[in-house]
Formats: sequence, structure tokens, C-alpha cells
Amino acid sequence: MFDTRNDLSADSRAKAIRLLNARLADAIDLGLQAKHAHWNVKGPHFIALHELFDKLAGKIGEHVDTIAERVTALGGTAGGTLGAVVRATSVPAYPETISDGLAHVEALAGAVADFGRKARLGIDEAEELGDADTADLLTQVSRETDKQLWFLEAHLHAQR
Ligand SMILES: [Fe+2]
Repeated sequence: MFDTRNDLSADSRAKAIRLLNARLADAIDLGLQAKHAHWNVKGPHFIALHELFDKLAGKIGEHVDTIAERVTALGGTAGGTLGAVVRATSVPAYPETISDGLAHVEALAGAVADFGRKARLGIDEAEELGDADTADLLTQVSRETDKQLWFLEAHLHAQR
């Protein structure tokens, strides 16, 4: 960990960096899953889903940058290489052979919900560390993730 004039304790910073790097790996993995769906989706709702999945990837990409830069602001090293992501991700593996639009929506909804749940858990963890800014960051991430989950689930509810 790098020295910094930031007044958070070294212990809190180390724990917040660990927490943030875990969510960073997940966000990078999730963003790639959304891109995979964007590229490979087929079916009658192709263009709407193709665009929806790209917007989802874009939002996740914003989280990636915000999370990574909080890691470095706290004196850590952001685990942004593919190798680091493969070692650290906790996102379930994406079903690589699906093509149907709703199958992609289902797969992404599951992954997005999992990501949102873990971001929310991190809010409490960051608060316990006295790191209100990381808690706020994860609050923003989870709020936007809830919205993206709604966008996905709205397609599934319409079918029932
Ligand atoms: Fe594209």
C-alpha cells in the first residue's frame, strides 16, 4: 500500500481497498458479460436488447472507473488486468452458448442482482471502517444497479 496524506487509518484503507478490489473484479467481469450479450443476442427483440445491453455495459464501465480510482486514492493498486479479474471475480460464469433474447435477459438479471447485493453489503462494511466515502460510492453503485435490474426485469415481467 502507498503512503498518503489521507487521514483514514492504514487499517481502514487496507480493508476498504480489499473490498473495492473485489467489487472492481466483479464489475469488470459483469461489464464483459453485458458486452457478450450485446454482441450475441438474437431474436425478435434484437435491436432493443442489443442497445439495452450496451447501455448496461456503459453504466457498469462507469462503476469500474469510479471503483478503481477510489482504490488508488486510498493508496492501493487497482486490480484491472484480465488475470487479476479472473483470480478475483465472484460473478457466476456466463452461459456462453445462449442466443435467445430472453435467455440473455435472464442471465444478465441474475448477474446484475448478485452484483447489486454485494455492493449493498459493502456499504455497511465501509461504514464500519469509518470510510463514509466508500460507503457513498457503493450506495451510488447499488442504486444504479437496482435501476439496471429493473430495466432487465421489465422484459421478463411482460412475458408472464
Ligand atoms: Fe456495439
